[in-house]
Amino acid sequence: MENGKKGIVMSGIRSTGFLHLGNYFGAMRNYVRMQEDYTCYFMVADIHTLTTHPDTRELKPNVQRVLAENIACGLDPEKVALYCQSHVYETGELFMLLNMLAYKGELEKTTTFKDKVRQHPENVNAGLLTYPVLMAADILIHRATLVPVGKDQEQHLEMSRNFANRFNHRYEDVFPEPFAFNFGEELIKVPSLDGTGKMSKSENQYATIFLSDTDDLIRKKIMKAKTDAGPSAPNMPMPDYIENIFLLMKLVSGPDTIQKFEEDYNKAAIRYGDMKKQLAEDMISFVAPIREKAESIRQDQAYLRRIMEMGAEKARISASATMEKVREAIGLKYY
Ligand code: TYM
Repeated sequence: MENGKKGIVMSGIRSTGFLHLGNYFGAMRNYVRMQEDYTCYFMVADIHTLTTHPDTRELKPNVQRVLAENIACGLDPEKVALYCQSHVYETGELFMLLNMLAYKGELEKTTTFKDKVRQHPENVNAGLLTYPVLMAADILIHRATLVPVGKDQEQHLEMSRNFANRFNHRYEDVFPEPFAFNFGEELIKVPSLDGTGKMSKSENQYATIFLSDTDDLIRKKIMKAKTDAGPSAPNMPMPDYIENIFLLMKLVSGPDTIQKFEEDYNKAAIRYGDMKKQLAEDMISFVAPIREKAESIRQDQAYLRRIMEMGAEKARISASATMEKVREAIGLKYY
């Protein structure tokens, strides 16, 4: 940890496509909030994307886009280590060693693994099974304690703690326990616009708002969001899909706007068409500046290369110091 900093922070985002509101509010917003006060390691999880066999010609543009979008959201590569997972070779070594402490039964029970098996029964590879072990290695390689993530990553964090504790018990105390972090608040789950599940890169792209969506597309997506004829009496409980629209509004609109529509709802006088129009305009004011900034950063290949090199250099200093301790703790030192 650097002098005067409050703790070590680590997090990552897979480069499987375009970043969306879920990634922003679940993760990136906190990265930006933490960058001043903590020692931060943020990475693009490019190796993790290989579990689902992407077209490898997409790797480079996708990694560059995720980097550009992170910077456009306010992350300062001078203040944090912003790097690519595949550039920190030490992570591979730690992953291999942690695999001896991860059990087949617990890996098979992981929710994300079971989801992937359901979605792609033809591609149940060992990388998918050991996905949480690689994620634990990403975190533990920096001996991080705080991991800003959305709610969907909670189980992976619990597994990371288990692997850290098992390592400490079996060998020597090397790793502190890492915890999912959201400034003392509940972890976030940004809902999808169709009222089912969360916004996600891979499922139903029309129900997800991407940081690269044009103004028009944002309007179209929001106007299509599921609503109904409205409450039939004052102070009715809200159906999930209406609650979701309010939740999205709370992320991007001002308090007066939210209060107005909440009052309308409770008076059974709400017009969902008006509410969605307002939400669309507020969403555009939020997304458009990020989209434009990311687009201009993406054009500057030399800058992106410099960022990646600088990030990898910072990350590898911390990673190699941890690996020294790990090898010593296990007894992999023969002279
Ligand atoms: P990934 O790429 O799926 O998502 C990146 C971050 O975005 C958050 N997120 C959401 N938060 C709220 N609502 C949503 N709808 C939503 N969708 C995504 C995720 O919680 C995450 O914080 N396994 C990780 C990548 C990873 C990682 C790590 C994270 C690899 N190594 C080490 C932390 C530490 C993943 O697939 O995230």
